[in-house]
Amino acid sequence: MKFFADTAEIDEIAELAALGMVDGVTTNPSLILKSGRDILEVTREIAGMIDGPVSAEVVATEAEAMLEEGRRLAAIAPNIAVKLPLTWDGLRACKALASEGTMVNVTLCFSANQALLAAKAGATFISPFIGRLDDINIDGMELIADIRTIYDNYGFETQILAASIRSVNHMKEAALIGADVATAPPSVIRRMAAHPLTDKGLAAFLADWEKTGQKIV
Ligand code: E4P
Repeated sequence: MKFFADTAEIDEIAELAALGMVDGVTTNPSLILKSGRDILEVTREIAGMIDGPVSAEVVATEAEAMLEEGRRLAAIAPNIAVKLPLTWDGLRACKALASEGTMVNVTLCFSANQALLAAKAGATFISPFIGRLDDINIDGMELIADIRTIYDNYGFETQILAASIRSVNHMKEAALIGADVATAPPSVIRRMAAHPLTDKGLAAFLADWEKTGQKIV
């Protein structure tokens, strides 16, 4: 499973990239707001830091205007994926941008039928939002599983990008189901390394080592 960093914070992306833990980046208008940066500038900077896809989201709501913004974002770098909302206009813009050879990430997906439409419109990525479904007591992971089944039934090449990930369990479950990509806040990716038995075991080893009086030189 590929890991995308769900952030527009340069330092966080750089830290993960140095470890080979980031295969791409996703941003959205809220993350751009949080970064305090200009969208074109920060997207250019991120796209120059990593080889993989960097999603940048349009804010227009009508297909023609989405296309215009999408082309402007795509011109930033060859690894830009234009992020479009899963509306009818978004699907129209998706079809047009995909035919031009631009990567498209169709976002704000909350149903299997929406995902089916995105695949038919030529989306490179579909972003089902797990956490936001969980927030309203709907099992977000069930949606990932349904989309996996539907895409596999028909051999759609659109990649399932599990989004709105809030926990390490979301990461594990998305991997078990076979999501192609998971986009997560860097804090969640870092937390995947944590285990209390690792900490306990390390503390015991270090205490015993201290007693040997030795040094590794
Ligand atoms: C990524 O593409 C999405 O915009 C993001 O994962 C949304 O996450 P949130 O629901 O935690 O805001």
